[in-house]
Amino acid sequence: MHLPHSLPIYESLTRSGHYHFGYFSSTKQNLRSALDDLPLTQLHRLPHRERVLDVGCGIGGTTDLLTQRGFPTLGVDPSRESIAYACGRRATPMTKFVRRRFEQLRPQPARFGAVMMVEVTQHFACLTRALARAAHMLQPGGVIVIHDLFVVPDLPRDRVPYHQRSALQEAARELGLEVLTQEAITEHVTPTVPQLLQLLRKYRRRVVHGLRPDRPDVEAEIRELETNLQVLHDAIRNGDLVYESCVIRNPGGW
Ligand SMILES: C[S@@+](CC[C@H](N)C(=O)[O-])C[C@H]1O[C@@H](n2cnc3c(N)ncnc32)[C@H](O)[C@@H]1O
Repeated sequence: MHLPHSLPIYESLTRSGHYHFGYFSSTKQNLRSALDDLPLTQLHRLPHRERVLDVGCGIGGTTDLLTQRGFPTLGVDPSRESIAYACGRRATPMTKFVRRRFEQLRPQPARFGAVMMVEVTQHFACLTRALARAAHMLQPGGVIVIHDLFVVPDLPRDRVPYHQRSALQEAARELGLEVLTQEAITEHVTPTVPQLLQLLRKYRRRVVHGLRPDRPDVEAEIRELETNLQVLHDAIRNGDLVYESCVIRNPGGW
């Protein structure tokens, strides 16, 4: 199965079902548990046992975790391979997946108690439109939970493919949504890249051996992943990118 670029390397290193940064409570925490912890940091904000929509679910780690925690979750992602992989690894048949772009998902007004967006906002050219769509699918009092990187300085979006940090507040204000919390958790995610690079050094041969039959260019892919991770890590360390955890509430119902 040909998962999107870099994802098979990430998955063969972590076996986590996640393709995002980890949330480290201490530098001693291991990557696998930090990856699980990231989407769970705002679990207490989700309306009890209500349905959740996991937008850009990738290979379904978050979707499955939330279902196991008592929130029946639907994951949506446009990648055929990711959705097939997600269906194959889910721990419970209660976890549901659908292959579609969020923009093309049939509107289901007031169906969900929460919408999760873990490292997907960069794929939406207009953040306001994406949040409006999410809010439309929320019950009154429901929440949108966002974990993502945002750009601090005024860098043009065609150079840095992330939204400005201020964009979330502006979109929420425009839509009449309430920002319950917007917290920079950059320090908690920063150990992710060093730990990944360390795992890559340690298990490189095993990863190459395991993936080469399907991916003859896996060594080049690993080099490219290492370079991209380092660029991302440098941008975080020099303050161009911040990692935010944000909860936005739909006060009314649409
Ligand atoms: C960085 S990955 C994050 C995956 C997952 N949320 C996680 O945390 O493991 C971004 C995901 O967004 C998905 N994506 C891209 N464009 C999308 C869209 N228009 N609607 C929904 N998902 C999209 C990609 O296929 C990819 O799986």
